Amino acid sequence: MSLQGEDPESDKDDIERLAEAEIRLAHFQAEQIRHATTYFGYPEVPENNDLSTLGVSGLARLHLNNAGDPWVHGSAQMHTKEFEREALAFVADLYGITDDYWGYTTSGGTEGNLYGMYMAREYFGAKGEPLVFIYSASSHYSIPKNARLLQLSTRIIECEPSGEMRYDALKETLKEVETTWPERPGLSISLNIGTTMTGAVDQVTRINDVLSEIGWPREKVLIHADAALLGLIYPFIEGNPDLFENGVSSIAVSGHKFAGTIHPCGIFLTKKSLHGQAFGDHWIPYVGTEDTTISGSRNGFLALNLWYVLRKKGRHGLAREARTCIENAEYLTKQLNEMNYPKVSMAPKQNIVVFQKPSDAMIKKYQLAAEGGIAHVVVMQHITRSRIDGFCRDLRKSLDQARFELRQDANTAAVGGGVEG
Ligand SMILES: Cc1ncc(COP(=O)(O)O)c(C=O)c1O
Repeated sequence: MSLQGEDPESDKDDIERLAEAEIRLAHFQAEQIRHATTYFGYPEVPENNDLSTLGVSGLARLHLNNAGDPWVHGSAQMHTKEFEREALAFVADLYGITDDYWGYTTSGGTEGNLYGMYMAREYFGAKGEPLVFIYSASSHYSIPKNARLLQLSTRIIECEPSGEMRYDALKETLKEVETTWPERPGLSISLNIGTTMTGAVDQVTRINDVLSEIGWPREKVLIHADAALLGLIYPFIEGNPDLFENGVSSIAVSGHKFAGTIHPCGIFLTKKSLHGQAFGDHWIPYVGTEDTTISGSRNGFLALNLWYVLRKKGRHGLAREARTCIENAEYLTKQLNEMNYPKVSMAPKQNIVVFQKPSDAMIKKYQLAAEGGIAHVVVMQHITRSRIDGFCRDLRKSLDQARFELRQDANTAAVGGGVEG
């Protein structure tokens, strides 16, 4: 019997196809390793040799599936839920909610944000109350996308030039919402713990002040923190207000950003009590677990990856890496200021340096994110001072080149003008 697609006359045998695939992969790997050395614009650690041991250890070839709730083991034994719970416990401890937490390993910050917003919808839905979702204009694009997916009623709050939410604008918006719904709906407020472009942090205490001034009942407010990049830096910075103590109800952190997992993943954490009120019981007999996560099957290797980096670095290692990244970001800021580069800024105690959008060649070489005339470097663990020096040298050269071209154009215009005159 032969099936459709089988070709007995095929001129390539399996060995040839294998060789072609291997050669293509080798080329791809070489190219990616080259890109990793100039990966400056996005908040990831592009190459992590520490993880190679984990990657090639026989675990990478196993189908490890964390389907469903991290605390409920289904009938299948091939999962990494014990490791997942340890990783969650580590982050819950950092945020001081070890007595009352629930969470899971997500596919990334976007899914964590989606879950926080979904939980808010279900929480107020279970009480039969309407919900208004509030987010700032500097929020990551996953926030409005998720709001569309969940069909939430939304309000957008204007921001300061720094990217931080304007609290006076929040107050005005809440007054407007109250005019529309005098009964006052439930509010879900999205709190930026580090905006994507400038790293601005919204102050939960200022939001609380606005809520008290306007007398919005606290039981009608959930606050979701989008801490994709800064989630594992924020708790180490002295003076930062404790999020959960100040009324935050959930948080989303990306695992492949500051934590440094090689594959995209994330952590969603909330108070177990709130989660229970929002969702109740979702037992699924087929898999023998609770259907509490957005996707059913979940990649168990990601949880292992996350557990591994957190275990290996510990609080001490994360704090030390955070300090180095912030100091290196300050170093880059100083270098840019010394060359009088335009529009340089850096929000305090984080690792994003913003400056005027450079030449297309620089954007391409350093894979920079650019938006509205500005670009940024996210100073991650792989951006050492010598790489910063190399970046600044290239930037200086591109500035000199631009000035040279400007002078040439001016000269040509002057000569042309002379002829015409
Ligand atoms: C503030 C913020 N939130 C959410 C995300 C989305 O995270 P992920 O790419 O892990 O889905 C990002 C990504 O850059 C981000 O900067």
